[in-house]
Amino acid sequence: DQTLKLAPSILNTDFSLIKKTLEETEAGGAHMVHFDVMDGHFVPDITFGPAFVASLRPLTSLLFDVHLMVENPENHIPQFIEAGADMITCHAEVCPHLYRTIQTIKASGVKAGVVLNPATPLYVLDDILSELDMVLLMSVNPGFGGQQFIPSVLEKIARLREEIIKSGREIDIEVDGGITHDNVKEITNSGANIIVAGTAIYSHEDIKSTICHFKKRMGI
Ligand code: DX5
Ligand code: ZN
Repeated sequence: DQTLKLAPSILNTDFSLIKKTLEETEAGGAHMVHFDVMDGHFVPDITFGPAFVASLRPLTSLLFDVHLMVENPENHIPQFIEAGADMITCHAEVCPHLYRTIQTIKASGVKAGVVLNPATPLYVLDDILSELDMVLLMSVNPGFGGQQFIPSVLEKIARLREEIIKSGREIDIEVDGGITHDNVKEITNSGANIIVAGTAIYSHEDIKSTICHFKKRMGI
């Protein structure tokens, strides 16, 4: 369904407190947890792998949204499926056999999506869009939390939503990077329905009330 959903990114949280973080995230009414998987190649940092995701799986009933910022994602997808991912997105820029990779994800019953960097044009989706459950548009350069939202992405979201409506399919548009209480409404107004937010959610002491407040700004 195309309802608005919030996917907090735990990227910059203190992992020694992850159990409490997940409890508060769930209590605040978030819909999913966004996992930023980085390999030190596609992006400079290294974060965590499938073992981390698997160890968190019993701690919460929130959906697990796995954003793979890794080269050769096809080598790692089975492990993330096994770890309990509910949706997996991989970057078009490092996925030469995109069709096969998407089919592999979907064959296991996990939702599949493609991520586009800010400078990657929408037309790379032309011959794959009908296969996708979701498209993730980056609104910062991938690799780090806490960056500024790139305003031209608003128009890109709107163009993609138009194409999806024309296709007659229900495909989620997720947007990731630099989303705050102040700009979230224009992002959803442009046609996005899944909002990733890291800094805006987790840089405050009270996660639960921050999420409630953020959802109000989204109009949900
Ligand atoms: C960037 C990540 C984002 C990031 C979002 O590479 O994909 O998910 O953590 O963090 P904020 O909301 O701080 O931009
Ligand atoms: Zn992300």
